Amino acid sequence: MAKTIVIGGGTDGMGRAMALARQARGDEVITLGSNPDKGRHVPNFLRVDLSDLDETRRVIREITAKWPKIDALLLSANRQGPRRVETAQGLERTFALYYLSRYLLGAGLRPYFGDDPVIVNVAGVGVTRGTIHWDDLQLTRKYGMVRAQLQAGRLNDLLGVIQQPNYVLYHPGFTRSGDLTPLPWAARKALKIAAKLKAQPVEEAIRPIHDWIDRPPAAPLTAVDRGRTLPLDLPTLNPANARRLAAATERLLARAGGDRSG
Ligand SMILES: NC(=O)c1ccc[n+]([C@@H]2O[C@H](COP(=O)([O-])OP(=O)(O)OC[C@H]3O[C@@H](n4cnc5c(N)ncnc54)[C@H](OP(=O)(O)O)[C@@H]3O)[C@@H](O)[C@H]2O)c1
Repeated sequence: MAKTIVIGGGTDGMGRAMALARQARGDEVITLGSNPDKGRHVPNFLRVDLSDLDETRRVIREITAKWPKIDALLLSANRQGPRRVETAQGLERTFALYYLSRYLLGAGLRPYFGDDPVIVNVAGVGVTRGTIHWDDLQLTRKYGMVRAQLQAGRLNDLLGVIQQPNYVLYHPGFTRSGDLTPLPWAARKALKIAAKLKAQPVEEAIRPIHDWIDRPPAAPLTAVDRGRTLPLDLPTLNPANARRLAAATERLLARAGGDRSG
C-alpha cells in the first residue's frame, strides 16, 4: 500500500534521498525545504522557512488541507549557524529550526495520522555531550555553533519522550551529507576530507528509515544510535526533563504568539 510521507528537510541530504527513494516506490511524498532551486528536483515541494514559527504553522495547514491522512513524518531539517541569529519571533535560529519546528510538525500533523503511523526524528540520540541551558534556551549569554547544535540535539532526544507513541529517534552517524556552506572555508575543507575518508554514503544512513516506515515499531519510543538500539532509561531521555521541556516550550509558544491556528 502506498504511504503518504511528509519530510521536513527533504530537499537535501538524507531527507532528499528518502524523498526520491519513496517516490520511486510509489509513495506520496510531501517535501519541505527553504530552497526553491533544490525544490525543483523533489516531489510535492512546499517552500517553507522552518525556523519561522508562522511559516511552519502555515505549511502544516497547507499539508493537512491537501493530505488529510499521513502515514509517516520524517524530521531531517537542520543547518549550522556559526553566528547567533534571531528569527522574526526573537528565537535563536538553531533552536527554532532544529528543535521547535520538529515540535510543531509532530504536534500539528499527529491528528491526521493513519492507523499505523511513525515519526522518525533524525538527530543525535545516544550522544551525551551538550547541555540544555534551561535558564537561557535561546543562548543569549553565550552562543557557539557546536553549543547550539548539541543543545538542540538533547532537546530532540526529549522531544521523542514528549511526543511518543509512534516515535523513533535516530542517530545515523557520520554521513556524506550536510550543507557545509554556512561554515568557514577551513572547516568546510577539513570536513570534506573527513567525510571522504570516514563518512557512510547517504543510502546506507537511510536504510533503517525505510524499515521504520514500512513496519512502524510497536514500542511507543525507539532510540537507535548508529545501528544500536538504546535503552530508554538513558539520562538524555529523562521523563522529568521531558515534562519540563514540554512546559517550557508551551510557555515559549504562548509568549511568541503569532498565528496559532496551525
Ligand atoms: N550528516 C551527518 O553526518 C549527520 C550525522 C548525525 C546526525 N545528522 C542529522 O541528520 C539530519 C539530516 O542531516 P543531513 O546531513 O541530511 O542535512 P542536510 O544535507 O544539510 O539537509 C538539511 C535539510 O534541511 C533543510 N533546511 C535547512 N534549513 C531550513 C529552513 N530554514 N527551512 C526549511 N528547511 C531547511 C535543507 O533544505 P533547504 O536547503 O532547501 O533549506 C535540507 O533539505 C540533521 O538533523 C543532522 O543534524 C547528520
